Amino acid sequence: MRSIWTETAQIPRRNPLTGNKRTEVVVIGGGMAGILTAFYLQRHGIHVVVLEANRIGSGQTGYTTAKITSQHNLIYSKLEKTVGKETARLYGKANQLAVEEYGKLIKRYSIQCHYEQKDAYLYSVQESEKLLKEAESAKRLGLPASFVRETKLPFQVHGAVRFTGQAQFNPLEFLRDISAGLTVYERTRVVKVQGHEVVTDKGVIKADKVVFASHYPFVNVPGFYFAKMYQEKSYVLELEPVEALDGMYLGVDKKAYSFRNYGDRLLLGYGSHRTGKAPAENPFSTMKQVAEHLFPQAEERGRWTAQDCITLDGIPYIGTYSFFRPDWYVATGFGKWGMSSSMAAAKILSMQITGKRTPYDAVFSPQRHHLKASALKFAVHGLESVKGLSAGTMPGAINCPHLGCRMVWNRYDKRWECPCHGSGFEINGKICAGPAQQSIPFID
Ligand code: FES
Repeated sequence: MRSIWTETAQIPRRNPLTGNKRTEVVVIGGGMAGILTAFYLQRHGIHVVVLEANRIGSGQTGYTTAKITSQHNLIYSKLEKTVGKETARLYGKANQLAVEEYGKLIKRYSIQCHYEQKDAYLYSVQESEKLLKEAESAKRLGLPASFVRETKLPFQVHGAVRFTGQAQFNPLEFLRDISAGLTVYERTRVVKVQGHEVVTDKGVIKADKVVFASHYPFVNVPGFYFAKMYQEKSYVLELEPVEALDGMYLGVDKKAYSFRNYGDRLLLGYGSHRTGKAPAENPFSTMKQVAEHLFPQAEERGRWTAQDCITLDGIPYIGTYSFFRPDWYVATGFGKWGMSSSMAAAKILSMQITGKRTPYDAVFSPQRHHLKASALKFAVHGLESVKGLSAGTMPGAINCPHLGCRMVWNRYDKRWECPCHGSGFEINGKICAGPAQQSIPFID
């Protein structure tokens, strides 16, 4: 699969690991979260090694729409209600500081990554009430939010929430420069982690601390991330030429689209669903129809899918992996907000690993319990997992190598998907998304 980022940015290759090594911190995963965490740790004088199963940025970072924003759908009104004003405020502050930190880094290191400051908008063509509530809530929490009636979208909206001073960029161009001074071993797959030993297919690394930044954590016990996180798939169509949009947009209606430009190209997003539960209609066909209506002069230049880890309360898991593994850390569950969450995770983890506390530790702690915020998703996730597991016992089922759920064929993405925790496999069974670690054996 290709995306506009994988087509337009070249990151120099790194060698695989050879033999055994010793380091202070090993980071598993060379995506945005892993590379940024390693970057800040190295700035703190820590010796750090990054292990990447494929290439830097070849995972979900290469398929994001790369909006850098603290506007995370209708999250602030929800968080205020479910986890309280102070936790919601700290969540917003950590993400807004992350947005600003990208700007500072890019300026300080003169990184050429098509960085542009843009306002971010949540819009509805049907109603304004929930947007008004969201704007009020975000403003109350100290975020740069306001409610507006007009946008520069090529259709009339009922209302929108505007966040000023947000940004967009090319994430792989950014990673190319920010990873330049780091020790990264590519094409080095981690097989298992035993205490302070990270066993790969190329050798073993002993480390004082281990950071799991591999999208979905693959160690099931301890941590039990499979019980508290699932994945969602969404679809992106790349169109050209389209006049640059003044802003980045995300719809909040049931059938809604996202829009952002990259030069004279438009990235149109749509069709989010639980991985393994593909919709009846073809999301790409729907987007093509919308594109023909709104941008009749534009032609399709590409299409791809993105996959995001969704936590039960909507807040990422950033912190120690488990009570039983105080030297393991994790950064996962970023939802659709991988760019700001990656930066927030990198800042928080680099402080924690160097022995400092942050005001955000409890908010993002993987050991938190937000029962009110999690109850509904916990029940749905449990039900879907039980359904997937029992379907896996049926004759003829293609079983997921993770925990054995029945795989489902996604005809729009041309991949096998697991409805339980979202592992993905190419048509020939080759693994392309965890938490599973192996390919599907019978197709191999
Ligand atoms: Fe967990 Fe498939 S991803 S059983």
